[in-house]
Amino acid sequence: YEKKLQELKSKIKSYPDFPKPGILFWDIFSAIADGPTNKLLQSLLVQNIKAKFPEVQAVVGLESRGFLFSFSIAAELGIACLPVRKKGKLPGEVVAYKYELEYGSDVLEIQKNAVQPGLKCVIIDDLIATGGSITAATHLLKTCGADVIGCLLVIELTSLAGRQNIPKGIPVHSLLSYE
Ligand code: PRP
Ligand code: MG
Repeated sequence: YEKKLQELKSKIKSYPDFPKPGILFWDIFSAIADGPTNKLLQSLLVQNIKAKFPEVQAVVGLESRGFLFSFSIAAELGIACLPVRKKGKLPGEVVAYKYELEYGSDVLEIQKNAVQPGLKCVIIDDLIATGGSITAATHLLKTCGADVIGCLLVIELTSLAGRQNIPKGIPVHSLLSYE
């Protein structure tokens, strides 16, 4: 298992000073440009969600990089895939939440009628930096009455301590950590 994680880690390129000076950008697209890495990453994500959150009923992907993984996991498990999107992209009645990003701020939205009360949700994204995006998603889901049972990320940037900003009691699980 550790060897598989190291193999995945070796495929993820970093770019200093992108998109702004001082930001080290970890580019998940560099990993998924490689066919065998896609198979590896998918199997690691599915293995982890089954082990950590076996009762999951819906995976909630965060636009846009989270969508890469939320659909593939949901399809393999045969469960719901729900989107959290940036402002103005989702039709119908939405719930909105303003949040701070690693660089800038934004508003995230979810469709109110996509979530049944008590639905056991796992939030999926490529990366946790400050934790602002995931925190926003937990607020949106809770407002809709969902039960957020955890978060699953490919990458965690530990120096930003984002997991400490996630509401207490929500387990955060990441495949790979970087300083
Ligand atoms: C990036 C990344 C995470 C988020 C992490 O997304 O994909 O979603 O930032 O930062 P945080 O923990 O500080 O909230 P971004 O908003 O850049 O957009 P994208 O996924 O559409 O590229
Ligand atoms: Mg994102």
